[in-house]
Amino acid sequence: MEKLLANQFALVTGASSGIGYGVARALADAGASVALNYHSHAESAEKLADEINQSGGTAFPVKADVSNPADVDAMFDACRARFGTLDIVVANSGLQRDSAIADMSMEEWQTVLGTNLTGQFLTAQAAVKEFRRRGPTSASKALGKIICMSSVHEVIPWAGHVNYAASKGGIQMFMKSLAQEVAPERIRVNSIAPGAIRTKINRDAWETHTAEQKLLQLIPYGRVGEVEDIGKAAVWLASDESDYVVGTTLFVDGGMTLYPGFIDNG
Ligand code: BGC
Repeated sequence: MEKLLANQFALVTGASSGIGYGVARALADAGASVALNYHSHAESAEKLADEINQSGGTAFPVKADVSNPADVDAMFDACRARFGTLDIVVANSGLQRDSAIADMSMEEWQTVLGTNLTGQFLTAQAAVKEFRRRGPTSASKALGKIICMSSVHEVIPWAGHVNYAASKGGIQMFMKSLAQEVAPERIRVNSIAPGAIRTKINRDAWETHTAEQKLLQLIPYGRVGEVEDIGKAAVWLASDESDYVVGTTLFVDGGMTLYPGFIDNG
C-alpha cells in the first residue's frame, strides 16, 4: 500500500530534539522526504537524517535560527535546492525560559517570543510563498499544509511562564487568522496543542517518581505523552485524510484541557 505522505516534501523546524524529532521521524515513516531544521544541535539532526536515510527514507539537516528572517529564507532555499519544493511545513521550534514576572528579563521575554511566535510567523510566511510559487501538485489535494506547534498553554494560563503562555496564546490567533486568509487557496493551516510530552523541555516534571505522580494529577488519561503521540497527529494533519480540517487546534494532551481539578470540586 502506498504510504500516506508518499511523494511529499516536508520541513520540520526544531527537528533535532523532542517533539520536532518525533514529528520528523513520523513524517519520514509515512513516506515524506524531510528537511530537518536545527539551531544548535547539528549532531542530533545529522543522526536522525542518517537513521531515516538508512531505513530507506530521505532526509537532510538544515541549520537556521527561525527567529532570523535571513536564516529562514536560506533554509527554504536549501529545501528548494534539495527537494524542488515543500508540501508540508511544521513550524515546531519552541523553547522555554521560565521566570516569575518580577524576575523575567527582556532577554527571556524576547527569546521566547522570538522563537515561538516570530519563528512560526517567518516559517509560515515562507511556506505560503513557496506553495504559491509551486502551484497545484498531484501529491496532495491541498496546495500546501502548515502545522503550527502550539501547546495546551494556548488556553491554560501558566503562572511563572508568562512569556511561554503569551507565545502559545499568540499562536492560537496567528494560526486561525492565517488559516482564514489562505484557505481559499487550498492551503490548510492547523495547530497541534501537545500536553505534557516526555521531552527534555519538561524533564523536571517527570524525571522523578514524585514529580511524575504530581504531573499525572493533571492528566486524566493517566500517562505522560510521548513524542510518537504527536508524530501520529502530525501525519494525519499533513495528509489528505484530514483534507477538510482547516484552522483547527488538535489537542493531544491526555485530557489535560479537561480541567481535572474539577473532578471532585467546583
Ligand atoms: C510545555 C511543557 C509542559 C506542558 C504541560 C508544554 O507546552 O512546554 O513544559 O509540561 O506544556 O504543562
